[in-house]
Amino acid sequence: MSQTWRELLMTDHETTERVFSAAEKALAAPEGPSPGMVANLREYLVGYVDRCHNQKEEQTVFPLLQRAGLPVEGGPLAVMLAEHRQAKALVERIDGAAAAFVAGDRARLDDLRDAFGAYAALCKDHFWKENDILYPLAARMLDEATQAGIVPGIEAVEAALGPDTRRRYYRIADELVRAVELEDLSYGLDRQVLAAILNTLPVELSFVDEEDRVRYFSHERGEKIFPRSRGAIATNVRNCHPQKSVHLVEKILADFKAGRREVAEFWIDMGPRKVHIRYWPVRDEAGRYLGCLETVQDVSGIQRLTGQRRLLEEAA
Ligand SMILES: [Fe+2]
Ligand SMILES: [Fe+2]
Repeated sequence: MSQTWRELLMTDHETTERVFSAAEKALAAPEGPSPGMVANLREYLVGYVDRCHNQKEEQTVFPLLQRAGLPVEGGPLAVMLAEHRQAKALVERIDGAAAAFVAGDRARLDDLRDAFGAYAALCKDHFWKENDILYPLAARMLDEATQAGIVPGIEAVEAALGPDTRRRYYRIADELVRAVELEDLSYGLDRQVLAAILNTLPVELSFVDEEDRVRYFSHERGEKIFPRSRGAIATNVRNCHPQKSVHLVEKILADFKAGRREVAEFWIDMGPRKVHIRYWPVRDEAGRYLGCLETVQDVSGIQRLTGQRRLLEEAA
């Protein structure tokens, strides 16, 4: 179902708040954030929050409220516009400091921290006022037909900034949030070490994201139970399964996304091997579906285990 104008704008707020918490964490780390993370943050705040989100409001909802009688010289609309101007000035400071930081000038980190801290505090307060005061006020003041015209207006502002603007920036936001989560999870291990750990697991992993695109598989080098090629990355998972089983894949993914199922498992014989294949929904801390993990394991050796072999016996 398509979203209403309020849902669209509030999803922008929510996405931006997630970016804020990730950036706060990364900026607070003693070693500072990675240049890649700062580049993404800069792109998202300048390109999306300032040039797109605030413009969507200033070009659609705000003028409609003004036409409906809300003054721009005082009252909630004036406050919102003044905050957009303050936010713009802070975004410009972030832009300058972030560009310098990414170019290697680490001395600008404090400047970046300061500007970002002030900006995030201002925006959080601003988003709250819009979500809880201004948007409900607009919903009361504007008739249904007028409100129905806001969504195309929002889409026009986005389209003027290039194709697929919202999705493009949401992807940057996601990348940024995930990069910080990954650092959290990896206790500062670098990506290569983390990848090597995953490649050492006695289980082959494949991951498809929330849009069902293949994003990762482990054990790229070396023998695999189900060989995969790098070409599979970014393709839809439906293209990786025989036609006759696609509807089952669809069913499992739909169940995972709807929270109806926590695992789907199969086991098959491949020559002398018993292969255990399991699919797991991957969710974030808030329970949001991030994708599906496939684990493939040769369990023949495990099936044959009897008795015990203790560490000391192994060493003997
Ligand atoms: Fe706003
Ligand atoms: Fe807003």
